[in-house]
Amino acid sequence: MDVLELMDEWGPEKVVCVSDRRTGMKGVLVIDNTARGMGKGGTRMSPHVSVAEIARLARVMTWKWAAVDLFFGGAKAGIVFDPSSPDKEQALRAFARKLSNEVPREYVLGLDVGLTERDAAIVQDELSDRGAMMGAPAQLGGLPYDELGVTGFGVAEVADELAGLRGRRVAVQGFGAVGAAAVKRFAELGAVVVAVSSVHGALVDPGGLDVARLLALRGEFGDLAVREYGGVRELGAELRVPCDVLVPAALQDVIDADLAGELDTALVVEGANLPTSVAAQEVLARRGITVVPDFIANAGGVIAAAFGMDARYSAFPVDPATVLDAVSSKLRANAANVVTTAKNRGTTTHVAARDMAQERVLTAMKLRGRVA
Ligand SMILES: NC(=O)c1ccc[n+]([C@@H]2O[C@H](COP(=O)([O-])OP(=O)(O)OC[C@H]3O[C@@H](n4cnc5c(N)ncnc54)[C@H](O)[C@@H]3O)[C@@H](O)[C@H]2O)c1
Repeated sequence: MDVLELMDEWGPEKVVCVSDRRTGMKGVLVIDNTARGMGKGGTRMSPHVSVAEIARLARVMTWKWAAVDLFFGGAKAGIVFDPSSPDKEQALRAFARKLSNEVPREYVLGLDVGLTERDAAIVQDELSDRGAMMGAPAQLGGLPYDELGVTGFGVAEVADELAGLRGRRVAVQGFGAVGAAAVKRFAELGAVVVAVSSVHGALVDPGGLDVARLLALRGEFGDLAVREYGGVRELGAELRVPCDVLVPAALQDVIDADLAGELDTALVVEGANLPTSVAAQEVLARRGITVVPDFIANAGGVIAAAFGMDARYSAFPVDPATVLDAVSSKLRANAANVVTTAKNRGTTTHVAARDMAQERVLTAMKLRGRVA
């Protein structure tokens, strides 16, 4: 594939490929669009990274930042390397060194698939710069936003804004970082959690699951918590249960047009990325079921990342309460805005959200004189 063919009217503005003979590391940085601010997006490490994949993810970041109306642009980086290799640290150090012209002025590394908090500490060390990578351990002044469960927290806040959760029945697919944090917040906001699933099966109880017990079991058994809880059912039951709010928070492509025709819910809040197909979104809109698109509902992580960016050089760690307050107010306002805009324009919420993001980026490009 010719990298130049990736470039369209939005970007990428810059693609930098690097390699290191000693470790065999290859990597790429894609800076998609900086009209609204410096390019920002996570860094992944996997044996299967490709330039096209990283470019696509960088574009998603352009829309995501614009949709939440925060002033960063889209970027993403990828390292072609096995994260379980004993040479991971050397490959990561080589990647950081090779990009020292760009990092941190034009790009700051961030956590994504294959990289952990420890890796953030390594990159900071390699470039002798606390600002080179986000997501460092709290002991180094970093913001542990996965630990805080900001994404799941935000998903529940969005549901509360649109449905008023007290006494509402909620079903959640997935009991990982996003699903479990969402379930915790749902219970705090007074919802009745009628279904939860993990890869090991689904739990369904129309009278409400014991969330405190379930979360305690997760602490001990992880994804196997659903089995330990007892009464586990076949996967898929959690999606079909009658409820007021349904949250797919596990995988992509779980709701197709057929399933969309069967769902017994009033609101779908997308915790996972890309859980509903375009055809499903249209079916749900016709049935009067509101859908909050992924890049609106699961943007808690990027809001936390924005705080982390601000705090990179500060001696004062970010107060988690400040982050959660911002996630709540920002996501509630965005979700309400997208639902109203979709109604007014007669489009699906996904189309409304993407159009809104594109308009903001285009406006910024015009103001900067990048387009006529
Ligand atoms: N972690 C974040 O901050 C974040 C932010 C934005 C979007 N997302 C998206 O949210 C989704 C979940 O991410 P995560 O970080 O919670 O992942 P995770 O790996 O922590 O958890 C995934 C959960 O889904 C369950 N699962 C897997 N296959 C399943 C199946 N067939 N049926 C039911 N459950 C199944 C797993 O058992 C696990 O409980 C992904 O699409 C991810 O891209 C995550």
